[in-house]
Amino acid sequence: MLLGVNIDHIAILREARKVNDPDLLEAALIASSLSDQITIHVREDRRHANENDLENILKYCKCVVNLECSVDMIEYALKYKPHRVTLVPEKREELTTEGGLKLDSKKLKENILKLKQAQIEVSLFIDPNLDDVQKSKELNVDFIELHTGKYANIYNALYTNINQTSYAINELMLEKNKLTTLFNEELVKLKKSAKLADDLGMKIAAGHGLNYKNVRNVVNITEISELNIGQSIVAYSVFVGLREAILRMKALVKR
Ligand code: PXP
Repeated sequence: MLLGVNIDHIAILREARKVNDPDLLEAALIASSLSDQITIHVREDRRHANENDLENILKYCKCVVNLECSVDMIEYALKYKPHRVTLVPEKREELTTEGGLKLDSKKLKENILKLKQAQIEVSLFIDPNLDDVQKSKELNVDFIELHTGKYANIYNALYTNINQTSYAINELMLEKNKLTTLFNEELVKLKKSAKLADDLGMKIAAGHGLNYKNVRNVVNITEISELNIGQSIVAYSVFVGLREAILRMKALVKR
């Protein structure tokens, strides 16, 4: 299974002081030498990576570069031409990408076409349900990325102490048996969505909230060929260094 490393959280550290430290390009060079793909998300508010990062990373890194952006930001994709664009929903007030794309917009359809005409591979970040997989196929994309955020949140509620902290999610303050049912249901949704996408001939990635503890179940879904992981790798790298953090994740995603 392939590993894509999302380095946005290194850029978040840089933006805390705005003195180009840590240097995102240095992180990208390390990540690109150890993984199969690197991802940055250029958000409207530039809270982490920006278009200069995209330009430099494309110039100096010898791996697949996946730009995450909203449908309103594709001008940078068309200008710098990354290998892949993953279209994601974006809300200014959110901490991170909260749900999958809404697939019915005219703008989405038009912008997919523009990206494809520019020979950029297009992936859609979608919630794991059969309807959205089918709609993605109708939108003529070759790639989807299944949102694993809900799976990860339920995992945390079930197997960590998060419900005893201020980071608890209200809807997941449930008894263990209810959480176990939800957890199994979410895994089934991921498996069925991956199976349908595979049957429809699309490539399948997955990501969001995956970490060293919860990644195994997703690795076991054989139709998924790539995982995109950021926050947990960068968090662990604070203790062991970026190189070691990536290598340990790589060992876990190996089939
Ligand atoms: N995939 C997509 C589409 C994302 O938006 C993100 C978060 O930026 C990730 C993967 C990585 O998520 P995480 O940082 O939680 O590993």
